[in-house]
Amino acid sequence: MNIKQQSFRTIWPVADGQAVDIQAVEVIDQTSLPHEFRIVRITTLQAMIHAIRTMQVRGAPLIGASAAYGMALASKASAEDAALAAAAQALLASRPTAVNLRWAVQRMLQHLLALPVQERRDAAWQEAAVICDEDVALNKAIAAHGLGLLRAIAVTRQSAGVLNILTHCNAGWLATVDWGTALAPVYAAHEAGMQVHVWVDETRPRNQGASLTAWELGQHGVPHTVITDNAGGHLMQHGQVDVVIVGADRVSGAGDVCNKIGTYLKALAAHDNQVPFYVAVPSPTIDWQIVDAQRDITIEERDADEVGFMQGRLDNGELARVSLLPEGSAVANPAFDVTPARLVTGIITERGVCSPAQLVALFEQPVNG
Ligand code: MRU
Repeated sequence: MNIKQQSFRTIWPVADGQAVDIQAVEVIDQTSLPHEFRIVRITTLQAMIHAIRTMQVRGAPLIGASAAYGMALASKASAEDAALAAAAQALLASRPTAVNLRWAVQRMLQHLLALPVQERRDAAWQEAAVICDEDVALNKAIAAHGLGLLRAIAVTRQSAGVLNILTHCNAGWLATVDWGTALAPVYAAHEAGMQVHVWVDETRPRNQGASLTAWELGQHGVPHTVITDNAGGHLMQHGQVDVVIVGADRVSGAGDVCNKIGTYLKALAAHDNQVPFYVAVPSPTIDWQIVDAQRDITIEERDADEVGFMQGRLDNGELARVSLLPEGSAVANPAFDVTPARLVTGIITERGVCSPAQLVALFEQPVNG
């Protein structure tokens, strides 16, 4: 089944039970992919926090959208100042690295606290929907700007008529409300008839590349090949990568890029092989408060079991979790790293493509300025 032909977003509001007004949210459970397409209904703030923590929803823009609906779910129980502030704190503690979460929670709080209490519940659902629609619009703009960039790169680098793009983790439509960030230009190029091929890093330990990016690209008919996380440098040395495009969980005003662990190594390899390295981000992923990205961004340390075990499907169709390590080995699992701006060729935003050094100026201008 081609899921995408049914025009799924990753998150949407629904009426729950007998109530006629909107009271719940549904999401695609990303922990079940690629083996099962499962939709989960979320009816409480606590269930939304669980979904973010366990990565049923993940990817910076989708984490932000989910947090916005988390605030709406919280407002069902109480929309008093103290209740909303407590809900915001609980959401902020769910995952630390993607700044979109903080951005969405602060926007919701600011919007709601300015209103009379009795108006807040409806306003919360409306504002969460606006945040989702905005995310789609930002990503469509990234797709258009990124398509122009890919066309330009194709002229100078294209090997054998096919543009080879390497990506890390999943920054496709599953990581956003729709379209994606790093994959948005790829989808636009594919739809425009360009011949593209994507090298998909498997992205250990949770395999977002192998499980999610490969699944998405397959659903859209985009040619792709899954590779181990260590293969990218070798492919670049042999001229098989024309451009790297990744997403980000947080980008500083100086253009330092925090993204899934392993992104930095790809940037180093790209730099050493003169392969352009681009980062696609909507503006809610830019953290203008960061002074020193290595020091100021909290890198999430996730459960050791993500490294020690792997989940997959057995030949008989059953899902299984298998152990990988000898007993007693210590495990570290930092989930993100920071790529310094000097290794970033350019940043693709809703306002256009710029060098890291031009980012501040790009966002100081009015939208059409
Ligand atoms: O841990 P995850 O799966 O939430 O990490 C996701 C990433 O690192 C993505 O590359 C990033 O959020 C950009 S998503 C458009």
